[in-house]
Amino acid sequence: SVMKEVSGLEELELQLRAILNIEEVIIVAGDSDENELVKKEMGRACASRMKKAFSTDNIIAITGGSTVAAVAEMLTPTVDERNIMFFPARGGLGENVQSQANTIVAKMAEKTMGQYKLLHVPDQVSDDVYSSLVEEPAIKETLEMIQQCSMVVHGIGDAITMAKRRKTDAETIQKISDGQAVGEAFGYYFDADGNVVHKVRTIGLQLENLENVPCIIAVAGGASKAKAIAAVVKQRQGRKTILVTDEGAANELVRLK
Ligand code: G3H
Repeated sequence: SVMKEVSGLEELELQLRAILNIEEVIIVAGDSDENELVKKEMGRACASRMKKAFSTDNIIAITGGSTVAAVAEMLTPTVDERNIMFFPARGGLGENVQSQANTIVAKMAEKTMGQYKLLHVPDQVSDDVYSSLVEEPAIKETLEMIQQCSMVVHGIGDAITMAKRRKTDAETIQKISDGQAVGEAFGYYFDADGNVVHKVRTIGLQLENLENVPCIIAVAGGASKAKAIAAVVKQRQGRKTILVTDEGAANELVRLK
């Protein structure tokens, strides 16, 4: 019955909280590796959790990816007076336009009747370009806002899948695989113990900035992402992360424990 399914997922949420040592886990039924509709449901669950966390003023940094794009589709305007501003968490990571954070922030703003700012940064920048870019007044202003964000919503990817999808050069892919990276989040590649194996050099939120963010929501599912989720979450032990995932990933995480 439906009741039984609900309590089954709640049980799984409790188990996963203990395994991952995080405060809050939200699991939707199904496996997004097998069914696209499950990704939409994760999007819905994440959108409603975001709305619950909204306060009067919200500065929200988001990453790219198809899962965060699914979140955007499910956002709706807030009933109360809320100031909501969306930003890409980091500049160019090599994603296609549909998966880029820039595209998704515009969608989120449209759906919530909020505002957004883009971060125009080329994907691969030299040291010189990088240091002059961060001094550009418009970029500097955006970066300062990102540092003060009240919420971060990010996807998690399998390391090699993400490196290939972003057309990473052969040398870097080698580094990522030699370092046994299993997970990726906002341009950082992590091994199973949560150590950083590689970091895409771009501007915006850096890993250490997460410490000061009051609300961090990770949204990722599918059994194929279980190791990636464990790696990314491990890296921030003790810090508050809300994980929105699916049964496929959750069952696999329990199995791997
Ligand atoms: O950082 C990880 C990616 O954003 C995940 O992308 O949601 O399309 O699997 P995805």
